[in-house]
Amino acid sequence: MQVNGHHQRTIQARTDGRISIIDQTCLPQAYTRVSIQTSDEMARAIRNMQVRGAPLIGAAAAWGVALAMAEQADDESLAKAIAELANTRPTAVNLHWALKRMQTLLQPLSEIKRAEAAWKEAQAISDEDVASNRAIGETGAALIEELAAEKSDGEAVNILTHCNAGWLGTVDYGTALAPIWLATERGLKVHVWVDETRPRCQGALTAWELRQQGIPHTVIVDNAGGHLMQQGKVDVVIVGCDRVAANGDVANKIGTYLKALAARDNNVPFFVAVPTSTIDWDIESGEDILIEERNGDEVRQLNGVEVYPSVTEVSNPGFDITRTRLITGYISERGLLRKLSDLDVEETEPAEVAAA
Ligand code: MRU
Repeated sequence: MQVNGHHQRTIQARTDGRISIIDQTCLPQAYTRVSIQTSDEMARAIRNMQVRGAPLIGAAAAWGVALAMAEQADDESLAKAIAELANTRPTAVNLHWALKRMQTLLQPLSEIKRAEAAWKEAQAISDEDVASNRAIGETGAALIEELAAEKSDGEAVNILTHCNAGWLGTVDYGTALAPIWLATERGLKVHVWVDETRPRCQGALTAWELRQQGIPHTVIVDNAGGHLMQQGKVDVVIVGCDRVAANGDVANKIGTYLKALAARDNNVPFFVAVPTSTIDWDIESGEDILIEERNGDEVRQLNGVEVYPSVTEVSNPGFDITRTRLITGYISERGLLRKLSDLDVEETEPAEVAAA
């Protein structure tokens, strides 16, 4: 997407063998790129949320393995890098999806071939993410077009989104925001309600992205969505996801479930943008998805200022589960799905790669 008029990806290989990322902990105050040199540094960047968002975490992990292979390509180094990267964040399944794909490719290869193969595969994972998100955008834009057709001239389609599922959460385009970019390209009028998304305020990232692209938006506190829906001010909710169970239950940023409940109560369609790399076919239902419990200080402090003393007990689950019955449909790179079971499981598994 465009940053200050220049096209940028969130993660990209540099010619000197390092990986350039956007340090998202500096946004929206400053757009800062950081270069990552080792797999350890990449693991730290994922853990500290310098890179975040399920698809981007997956791509970053793949680049982490590529960096490890460039340094030392024996079995021990491969196993260590994969174990360390797998341990960074528990909920987004793209991390494990990408690591499995790297391991399946690299394990059978001789050491001498691993560095080059790993680099190419991490690049392929990044490029596929971009293509997949663009396809999600096409499908979602068609949905927005249908909603626009019901509006009178000059009236915008009002879309509510939670957390940041824009291009910052992916390699490019984003998932939930991709339909918005493409709808705008097609000349449709949209307005976005941006949930603030406490405690990490990923809404500030979404607002930053929308501002960069010149798209009308309004930031709201997390509890405002239901009220706006009651007033008929929301036409559709589109969110991203961190892991989707085989039955279609969705794990996404904490608070997503409450938006889905409010949407159902007010007959507002609720869509989840789902790249197939975010589907975990090994998990039957949302009950079995591991929810990340984050540090309580994220809640105790507001902009670095202590609101609650450290003795105050805090619960800080990072994600929640929205049951499939509350979801109107899944916007995937393979089109709009009413049920997840419309997908072919085998086609969405990381491919088993034959040894070169
Ligand atoms: O904790 P985060 O910021 O990594 O959580 C991100 C989300 O919940 C996003 O909605 C999801 O990963 C989709 S990103 C395209």
